[in-house]
Amino acid sequence: MPVTQLIYSSRPFGFDDAILSQILLTARRNNANAHVTGCLICRGDLYLQLLEGPEEAVARLYDAILEDDRHLEVTRRVQRQIGTRMFDGWAMRDDPAQSWLWTKEEVEAGALDRADTAAFLAVFQRLADGAH
Ligand SMILES: Cc1cc2nc3c(=O)[nH]c(=O)nc-3n(C[C@H](O)[C@H](O)[C@H](O)COP(=O)(O)O)c2cc1C
Repeated sequence: MPVTQLIYSSRPFGFDDAILSQILLTARRNNANAHVTGCLICRGDLYLQLLEGPEEAVARLYDAILEDDRHLEVTRRVQRQIGTRMFDGWAMRDDPAQSWLWTKEEVEAGALDRADTAAFLAVFQRLADGAH
């Protein structure tokens, strides 16, 4: 079955540990049922999430995520068909932002808008490869 991979960025609204735990709890329950896998990078100023799964499931999930008031400025960065999942086995991996990610200042200055598909994929590939 073809797999759709989608990456979006957003700005957390009311970010704290309790909110993040709640999001991850829901994500892991729903994603396991929907054969969705992925990775969520979290920082006070940034969510960067990769979702992968059946096209319909990813589309439905992204619609729900767009409506979620726990974040703002949800912006799709990458959408493509893939043969092999990057986060196979992870209902939703979560990662704090690493030092090599775009800094808060870079994000504020529009770095994400200037980044291309390869740059977003490289961020997640680095995590999938075990980088810290
Ligand atoms: C940053 C962020 C990431 C999310 N990721 C997921 C996800 O991977 N899977 C999921 O089902 N819901 C995710 N959600 C929650 C959805 O927006 C929505 O609340 C949820 O899918 C509703 O599920 P429920 O009807 O079972 O409560 C995320 C929300 C936010 C703010």
